[in-house]
Amino acid sequence: MSRIHEALKKAEEQRAASQGGNIEPASISEMVNESAATAVAPAVEHTPSAVSAVPSFSSPFTFDTLLASCAQARWSPDSKTMLFFNSDDEQGYGMEEFRTLRSRLYQMREKQSLKKVLVTSSLPKEGKSFVAANLAQVMVRQQGRRALLIDGDLRGPRLHQVLGTASSPGLSEYLLGEVDEFGAIQRGPMDNLFFIPSGRTVSSPAELVANGRLKFLLNRIEPLFDWIIIDSPPAVPVSDAGLLANYCDGVLIVVRSNATPFDIARKARQEFRDTSLVGVVLNGIDVGSSYTQYYYSSYGHPNSQGDGRR
Ligand SMILES: Nc1ncnc2c1ncn2[C@@H]1O[C@H](COP(=O)(O)OP(=O)(O)OP(=O)(O)O)[C@@H](O)[C@H]1O
Ligand SMILES: [Mg+2]
Repeated sequence: MSRIHEALKKAEEQRAASQGGNIEPASISEMVNESAATAVAPAVEHTPSAVSAVPSFSSPFTFDTLLASCAQARWSPDSKTMLFFNSDDEQGYGMEEFRTLRSRLYQMREKQSLKKVLVTSSLPKEGKSFVAANLAQVMVRQQGRRALLIDGDLRGPRLHQVLGTASSPGLSEYLLGEVDEFGAIQRGPMDNLFFIPSGRTVSSPAELVANGRLKFLLNRIEPLFDWIIIDSPPAVPVSDAGLLANYCDGVLIVVRSNATPFDIARKARQEFRDTSLVGVVLNGIDVGSSYTQYYYSSYGHPNSQGDGRR
């Protein structure tokens, strides 16, 4: 991380903290479980009337409540990006690689706590959103597994386009205290896949991400899901991904084959030196290349524990 970037990042964090950021709700993680939970939202910067307009922040929260209360949206997914959405072809383009990735994550989960995964990369257009969307899909292809996909890229949100749904209300409205989780989460036609879009554009995304509410949200909803996959902006130009990583169990870094410069990829790695790096996804490799052969022989096919292949 450059000194300038580091200084900017620090300044952002300090500013967010001085404006009521990083407010940690007391023992929320102990208070929340799937059967019943009561929680109190952290203070945020908005008017008291906005807070009182969101009464269910303190309501009990179960999966049935979520099912009954979140928006049922009509998604029109982009079939080029959502590889698993309507596919009857189990051997379609890229699907096996995502099953392999799923397998690896389950293997890692045997060794460490791993549910909230941040998908990031150093630069724009390396495939973060593509990987996040397909990872969430492949997770719910397994019977009974639930995944929540969050568009944490408040600067260049794309997942709502990939899913073919509205971008708002979503994360930014939640972080601003304008909606509760039921207002932010939507579900579509794919069983057990839930989605929080980015929400409307805001002027200071990093401050919003650091205001304490995201941590509160994740603590509150975490028990309801097997996986929470968060898409992010690129890590090198802006600090949001580093802030998001603070709330995650692990980070997946996407590297675009023949595109990401080595020193830039290393820079992204340094950004997350304090977070568990759970893997690097080499995206966009030439299917016929010798590297593809290496990739397959190195990692094999997913028959490992925890991976009921679908
Ligand atoms: N492996 C892939 N195969 C086919 N298309 C891909 C692949 N990876 C990415 N793409 C496509 O490349 C484009 C850029 O990918 P994506 O939006 O996922 O990148 P990103 O890293 O999220 O970009 P940004 O930093 O702007 O958010 C998209 O149109 C996406 O569908
Ligand atoms: Mg993206």
